Amino acid sequence: MTFDEASQRVAALRAELEHHNRLYYQQAAPQISDSQYDALMRELQQLEQQHPQLCTPDSPSQKVGGAPLESFASITHKVPMMSLDNTYSQEEVAAFYARLQKGLGREQVRCVIEPKVDGVAIALRYEAGVLKHAATRGDGRVGDDVTANVRTIAGLPLRLPAGMQGDIEVRGEVFIGHQGFARMNAEREEAGEALFANARNAAAGTLKLLDSRQVAKRPLEAIFYAVADAGGEAITSQREVYQWLGRAGLRRSDWFVEVLGAQEMLEAIAQLDDQRRRLPYDTDGAVVKVDEWADQAELGLTAKAPRWAMAYKYQPEQAQTRLIKVDIQVGRTGALTPVARLEPVFLSGSTVSNATLHNFEEVERKDIREGDWVIIEKAGEVIPAVVEVLKNKRDGSEVVVSAPACCPVCGSAVQRDAEQVVIRCPNASCPEVVRRRLEHFVSRGAMDISGLGESVVAQLVQLGLVRDVADLYQLDVLSFSRLERVGTKSVDNYLRAIANSRQQAPWRLLFGLGILHVGAGVARKLLEHFGGVDAVAAAGPQELMQCPDIGEAVAGSLHQWFREPVNAALLERLRSSGLQLTQQQVEKQGEQLAGTTWVITGTLSQERETVAERIRAHGGRVSGSVSGKTSFVLAGSDAGSKLEKAAKLGVRVVSEAEFEAMLAG
Ligand code: IVH
Repeated sequence: MTFDEASQRVAALRAELEHHNRLYYQQAAPQISDSQYDALMRELQQLEQQHPQLCTPDSPSQKVGGAPLESFASITHKVPMMSLDNTYSQEEVAAFYARLQKGLGREQVRCVIEPKVDGVAIALRYEAGVLKHAATRGDGRVGDDVTANVRTIAGLPLRLPAGMQGDIEVRGEVFIGHQGFARMNAEREEAGEALFANARNAAAGTLKLLDSRQVAKRPLEAIFYAVADAGGEAITSQREVYQWLGRAGLRRSDWFVEVLGAQEMLEAIAQLDDQRRRLPYDTDGAVVKVDEWADQAELGLTAKAPRWAMAYKYQPEQAQTRLIKVDIQVGRTGALTPVARLEPVFLSGSTVSNATLHNFEEVERKDIREGDWVIIEKAGEVIPAVVEVLKNKRDGSEVVVSAPACCPVCGSAVQRDAEQVVIRCPNASCPEVVRRRLEHFVSRGAMDISGLGESVVAQLVQLGLVRDVADLYQLDVLSFSRLERVGTKSVDNYLRAIANSRQQAPWRLLFGLGILHVGAGVARKLLEHFGGVDAVAAAGPQELMQCPDIGEAVAGSLHQWFREPVNAALLERLRSSGLQLTQQQVEKQGEQLAGTTWVITGTLSQERETVAERIRAHGGRVSGSVSGKTSFVLAGSDAGSKLEKAAKLGVRVVSEAEFEAMLAG
C-alpha cells in the first residue's frame, strides 16, 4: 500500500468508525457487531502505526465514544472514564503479561480476572455516604447525568452503610439480565411494539429515557467492578475493591479469580468462557486487571486505556450459511417485517433456519440479497441476526430485495411510519392482518377461546367467514361445516368456547382488540381506573393519562383507535353480541385474605390471572413485585428471583396447596 492509498483508507476508516460511534454511543442503536467494530479499529491502528504521520489526536483511535446527549445535564468525570484495550488472541494475552513483567521489573505480577459484562458503563458518586449522581461515560471526559434513572435500579444503595461516610466514586455496568429481557420483550410483543434486538440495546435505550417513571418499569440491574476515587477509604488493590463493594452493599461480579502468570491467565479465561453462559446476564469477554493499585499506578495509562488492564473478547458464536429467501411477515398491527429464510445451520446449540432482518432499511444498508452467503451471529439473545454478507462469494445470480410498495398479501399500497422505518399495510381487512388479529384475540392471555387453534382461525379467515373479531360471534354449526377435517364434536367445543368468552372480563376484551401499545397490564389498569370499555373509549388523551402508568404514547394510540368509525362500529357489534364491556365488581367470596398483599410467581396449575382474581375475591391484594409490604409469595414450579427476594426480606413463601388451605379457612 502506497502512502496515498494508506491515507485514503485511514480517512475512510475514521468516517466509518465515527458513524458507528454515533450509532453506539448517542443513539444506542449499533448496526455492526463489536467484533466487526474492533476489526475496523484494528485496521486503523495498524495503518497509523505504519504511518505515524497519519496518526492525529482527533482520530477515533485516540478517544472513546461520542459526545453526550443534549437532553441530559452533563457531568464532567473527576477521573476520566477510559476504555480497555481489546484482544481476541491468546498470544496477545501472553504479550500483555510480558509487558507487565517488564514494566514492573519482576517475574510475578498478581492479576485478577472477572467477566466483561455486556452493558452500559456507569459512574456513581457518593458524597458523605449518599448517592450524589450517576453518569454515563459519554466521551470519557463528560457524560450524561442519569441519576434519576439509576435510582430506579432495585437494590442499589442510595446511602452507604454507617461508617462509610467518605466521598467515593464507583464504576460498573448497567444491564438487563436474561429474565428481565425476556419478560420485557414478551410484554412488548403483547402490546404490538417493536422488540429489542438484544439486552444491551434494551439497557442502553432504557438508560437514555428522559422519563424515569418509564425506566422504573424496566428491569435494569447494575454490577460494579471498580473504585475510581477511594476518597479516604482504605483500598489498595482490586481484591480490596471487591471486599469494599461487598461491605457497601453494591452488587459485584459473581465470578472473580486471582492468577499468577500467563498460563494461569489463559486457563482462567477459558474456564470463564465455559461458565459464563450460566450467568444470568450477557457477557462478551474477560477483563484482566493488575491487582495492586501501586503496580497499576506504576504502569500508568495510554491516551485511551490503562496499561494495567486488558479485555479478552470471546468470539461471538457465528456460522456461515446461505440466505435462500427474504419473506415478508405481516403483523397484527400491519407492520411488514423482513425475515431471512436460511439453509439450516447449527449454531450455539440449535439448528437455525430463520434470522431477523429487523426492517427494510437494514436490508438495504447491508445490501442483503436472496442467494447470498451470510454470516449469522447469536450473541446472548435467542433470535440470530445476519451480521455480514460475503459479497466476494456472489456469482451474479443473487436477487436484490427491495422494500415492498404493496402488501404481499392484499396488495394495498404500504404506508411508512413517522421515522420511515416501519412499513405497514394500512388495510384493516387484509386477510393476514385479520388472521393475526384473530389469533391474538382468541389467545390464552386475551379472550382465551381455547381450542380455536391456528389452523381453524386460518380457515375461517380464508373462507371469508370471519373478517373481524366480532364475526366470531356470528358463527354457527353451518359455518364450521365448511371447514376441512373438523368433526361435530369439535364444532360443539368451538361454539361453546366462543359463547363462554362473552363472559370474559372486559380487560381481556380491551387487550384482545390489539390496540398498539395496549398490553394486558395496561388493559387491566385502564379498566380498574375507568370501570368499563365505554369510559375508556370516551376519554380524551389527557383523561387517559390520569390513569396510573398511562403515558402519552398509549393514550394517543387508544384515542386514535376509538375515533376510527370502523372500530366504533366493531365495538357496537361486540356489545350487541353480548360481550362484557363493564367491569363486574369482584364478587366477594370471603374475607380469609383481608389485609394481605400477595405476589404470584412461577407456574401454577391455574392461570395466574385466575388465581389473582380469587385472591381479590377473598379480600387480598395482588402486586407484581416483592417488597417490604408483601405478606405472602405464592410460588409455583420454576419460580425464580422473586423467591430469593422473598428470602432476603423474610417474606413467607406458600405453595399452591397451602394457598388452597388458607382459602378453605
Ligand atoms: S474495567 C479503566 N471491568 O468494558 C477501564 N470494565 O471496553 C475500567 N466492562 O468501559 C473498566 N465489564 O464499560 C472493567 N469487569 C469489567 C467490565 C468492564 C464490562 C466495560 C466497561 C468498560 C468497557 C471497556
